[in-house]
Amino acid sequence: MTESLYQRLGGVERIAAVVDDALDRHAVNPLLAPRFRGKDMPRLKLLGTQFFCAGSGGPQKYEGRDLRITHTGMNANEQELIAAIDDFVAAMQSQGIGAAEVNEVVAILYSFKGEVLRL
Ligand code: HEM
Repeated sequence: MTESLYQRLGGVERIAAVVDDALDRHAVNPLLAPRFRGKDMPRLKLLGTQFFCAGSGGPQKYEGRDLRITHTGMNANEQELIAAIDDFVAAMQSQGIGAAEVNEVVAILYSFKGEVLRL
């Protein structure tokens, strides 16, 4: 049986560590930090973990808002999307996730472009 992306990433424990690290990086990334100032980071980490787990084949349920609704009014741009993806790549690498899985996650994150940019 082929393993799901969720299983290949190492399940909820490893995914939670990646999201935790990536959001800590967002908070100090000059391209993203202003967006996250004053936000409830523990809540965003929980929702980000649910979203990532559910989207990669895990049993978790995503309890956050619709992506398009969440990002409407931000007018986020391509540079910010790349910066966000870069932070996830760095977080996955620091968690020892392999290149094949990193590339798969990058492609999935990029695929949300139309739901998060210029809204
Ligand atoms: C790869 C694409 C992206 C995904 C999958 C994504 C996912 C999410 C999710 C799941 C949430 C939580 C939803 C909720 O609050 O109920 C969220 C919130 C947020 N996202 Fe994104 N996001 C993406 C790109 C971006 C970009 C490019 C920016 C802009 C810099 C951004 C800025 C934010 C901010 C500021 C929040 C917090 C909103 C609030 O609590 O007021 N996101 N995102």
